[in-house]
Amino acid sequence: MTSKTRAMANAVPMTNVTISDAAELLRTGHLVALPTETVYGLGANALDDTAVAKIYAAKNRPQFNPLIVHLPDIFEVSKYAVMDPRAQQIAEAFWPGPLSLVLTRTDTCALSPLVSAGLETVALRVPASESASRLLRAADVPVAAPSANKSGMLSPTEAQHVADAFGDEVAIVLDDGPCAVGLESTVLDLSTDQATLLRAGGISLEDLTEVLDKPVAIAGHDDFAPKSPGMLSRHYAPQTPLRMNAENREDGEAVLGFGSPVTGEHANLSPTGDLVEAAANLFRMLHALDADGHSGIAVRPIPEDGLGSAINDRLRRAELG
Ligand code: TXA
Ligand code: MG
Repeated sequence: MTSKTRAMANAVPMTNVTISDAAELLRTGHLVALPTETVYGLGANALDDTAVAKIYAAKNRPQFNPLIVHLPDIFEVSKYAVMDPRAQQIAEAFWPGPLSLVLTRTDTCALSPLVSAGLETVALRVPASESASRLLRAADVPVAAPSANKSGMLSPTEAQHVADAFGDEVAIVLDDGPCAVGLESTVLDLSTDQATLLRAGGISLEDLTEVLDKPVAIAGHDDFAPKSPGMLSRHYAPQTPLRMNAENREDGEAVLGFGSPVTGEHANLSPTGDLVEAAANLFRMLHALDADGHSGIAVRPIPEDGLGSAINDRLRRAELG
């Protein structure tokens, strides 16, 4: 079988039956490619750490960039993020639509910390396309979905692009024809007082400024912009000093294991040495160890292959402090 025919096999037209199949696959932790009005997304249940880790594994990204979480309607948003009057105003004006808002996670936010790459914020979007809404309603879980392309490739605007790129790595590709907007959503950060455009997209800066009635900073351009897109200068790092490739434990340190448990370990990313499981546990375990008041966190060696390079990238940044 050529890779093309293998890839073709899992792109299916959207019907009541395929939507309900895809919804069940999402709920049970599988990857589902879904059409939105902007581009096709590579979706996973955002409440499920392992499902979210599978997105990073499939995309082949060497880093954990935070992901956009898709919700069926505006009423779901306050379950997960703090909606101040400014966010409310923007949401009412542009949702459903091609706009993602970076907001502060609520204290009780049940979304996997991996969708936020460990940060205190989360990007949320209520897509406008009928097909995306139908799937989100059927799935009844929030869906984390980056653009469904391999790292470094163009965002896909047709189901066939996704099927060609991912083949069997995705359980099902729902085909609803070409995306209407064909350009990713605008990403607006409202997690700080200064509203900041992190990525230009389907909704224009002028439209946002008009509704906010205040200037919007552009990340990477304006000195007063707190963050830059892509580079994401703000990374999650524990307060506790961290040491990688630790072969021993020093006094007062917590040991974060990987693979066969060693004596005195405080947590283990994956006792079986599974990198997807390790990614799923990474931020949750770092947060927990950080809160425990150890003098340091010693992390056992993690191989550089597959998701290991993204895990090590994050640990390296944490090690630098
Ligand atoms: O149109 C879209 O937005 C598509 C469809 C599928 O919805 N999704 C998409 O996702 O383009 P992705 O992962 O390719 O891009 C997400 C962007 C990245 O630039 C990421 O850094 C930013 O959103 N982002 C996500 N969460 C963030 C956060 N908590 N803080 C800052 N930036 C965030
Ligand atoms: Mg992308």
